[in-house]
Amino acid sequence: MRPTLLPVLLLALPMSLAGQRQPPVMPFPLEATPAPGGLRLDSTFAMTATGFSDERLRAGIGRALARLAAMIGQPLSSPPATGGRVMLEVSGPGQVVQTPDEDESYTLEIAPAGARLKAPTVVGALRGLETLTQMVSADGEGFFLPAIRITDRPRFRWRGLLVDVGRHFMPVEVLKRTLDGMAVVKLNVLHWHLSEDQGFRVESRRYPKLHQLGSDGLYYTQEQVRQIVAYARDRGIRVVPEFDMPGHSTSWFVGYPQYASAPGPYEIERRFGVFDPAFDPAREDTYRFIDGFIAEMAGLFPDPYWHIGGDEVTGKHWNENPRILRFKRQHGFKDNAALQTYFNQRLSRLLTHHGKRMVGWDEILQDSLPRNAVVQSWRGVEYLASATSQGFGAILSAPYYLDHMDPADVEYLSDPLPEESGLSPEQAALVLGGEACMWAEQINSETIDSRVWPRLAAIAERLWSPPSVRDPDDMYLRLSRVSIQLERVGLGHEAHTFRMLRLLSGRRGVQPLHDLLAVTMPVTFGQRVRLQGTTQLTPLTRLVDAARPDPWARPVLNRLAVDVVRDPQAATAAREQLRRTFAGWKPLATALAALGDSMPLARDGIPAALGLGQLGDLGTDALEYLSGGGAPPGWKASATAMLDELAKPQGLLRLAGVEAVRTLVDGLP
Ligand code: ACM
Repeated sequence: MRPTLLPVLLLALPMSLAGQRQPPVMPFPLEATPAPGGLRLDSTFAMTATGFSDERLRAGIGRALARLAAMIGQPLSSPPATGGRVMLEVSGPGQVVQTPDEDESYTLEIAPAGARLKAPTVVGALRGLETLTQMVSADGEGFFLPAIRITDRPRFRWRGLLVDVGRHFMPVEVLKRTLDGMAVVKLNVLHWHLSEDQGFRVESRRYPKLHQLGSDGLYYTQEQVRQIVAYARDRGIRVVPEFDMPGHSTSWFVGYPQYASAPGPYEIERRFGVFDPAFDPAREDTYRFIDGFIAEMAGLFPDPYWHIGGDEVTGKHWNENPRILRFKRQHGFKDNAALQTYFNQRLSRLLTHHGKRMVGWDEILQDSLPRNAVVQSWRGVEYLASATSQGFGAILSAPYYLDHMDPADVEYLSDPLPEESGLSPEQAALVLGGEACMWAEQINSETIDSRVWPRLAAIAERLWSPPSVRDPDDMYLRLSRVSIQLERVGLGHEAHTFRMLRLLSGRRGVQPLHDLLAVTMPVTFGQRVRLQGTTQLTPLTRLVDAARPDPWARPVLNRLAVDVVRDPQAATAAREQLRRTFAGWKPLATALAALGDSMPLARDGIPAALGLGQLGDLGTDALEYLSGGGAPPGWKASATAMLDELAKPQGLLRLAGVEAVRTLVDGLP
């Protein structure tokens, strides 16, 4: 087998990106002042809560010590410590039921003689423990925590991840490790999308046909819901349930067709898209049913917020029902949006009665939306402005759709409140924060880690850190570190491609496939819908599923290309690394074609491998022209046209090297 170039490239990440922020943690703190020296970490190290303490704090300290012990490869004894010691001074437990107003601030001082972590609440202490744990460094004498003074608190108070368990069910273990990862990067809301056309996922004792007929047997028992909520609370994370209505509701009507707008019967939807079934907003029975449902679920979900969905209502079944049409006329509703607002007002009254505040997708933003509603933008960042201009609280999700397969730097640079937002200070104060969304049409419990992580860490930093922390090179450097920390708490994103390729090929170490996936990424959500059209029954076991949304080679190649263009003569190492990488792409197509004889699914990679071969040729020529006398007439235009083609899907993969080669081509005179 020929020598492999890409793993070398991968290892080069920390070296090739210069000027690293200290400490190299994610999210980066508000203020950090490094000092000389450090606190040695060995088996005599301990942590002691000197002020307030409770079960949650003790558990958090226990988890931090376990992770530190794993990192240094030695057991850490309980107090009394004889060596380095961290004193935790916590003022109180924090809110009984956590809200967006919880105080998550902390200060952390590490000196050679000891460390002090101060926080007004246990949640703040948990945030500080994460920072401390991420700071472990090593030298010739062993491990240590570098001396530093940190003052930290979040920029936004709502920092979430939506997990869609409706389209593909995610077992409890997946949610637990996701929560562990969220705690590492200081996220504080799990938005649990629990019902969809394709599945209803919670046990209801009051309306048992919901989970019995609407879930394929894949649902959370009430005991499991309590476990997840408690697990999240232990980590300072709120759980906001979403029960999407009036649309996205087919699975409810399998057991309870009487609350739908069309007669049924209904079956669990296997396709993905936007469907017509919707609650009947014109019947009192519908509201009695929903009231009973909220009453039952309110006992499981203590969070003060409740997400009603409210997105993508087609209105078709409303338009086809004479009784609903009559109802609309009687109430003077001019369109279906007005009818949905009526439904939302009824819902809001029920929620208020059960102590809940309504959150919904931006479609709910209509005249006479109840004043305390919170609007979650998904169709565009402009809904943040329109919601806040009307006085509503708002959450940004539009740029953070993880299923769209944007790379981490693109997500990272999307700021909920950029300087040019045009929002008044009053409006800005209504922006609660943001949520990344992991919709599950094209993912399942096997691939979710690789789609969420490590990109979510970049979004988490955007939502926590000051807006001035926005250098993508530095972000990637710290991301590569935190990505490993995330694997330590049980996530599988780094191992993902290796694991999937073994399963796909039935063998170990199929090098051409690894080489291919090191520089390719899945097509976007929309491209995959058009090119493959997955349903709930599609196995997610192909090369596209093994690929990762933002392979490490992408930022490395981009950085190298920028360096070469900046000074083609001086950047000899960067030029040489690119040249060797480009040359390594050439033989991939032939190698994959040969593999295809015994591994039919390897053929999925041939279009991308052919594309890489062409891309490598373009890159090689551009390097030569950059260091020599420029390109022949017309070459740059034809290369640009080729790059436009190569930026399109190659099979179900995209080439992660296109941007880098484009940088080289654009850099030519
Ligand atoms: C949505 O993506 N329909 C909220």
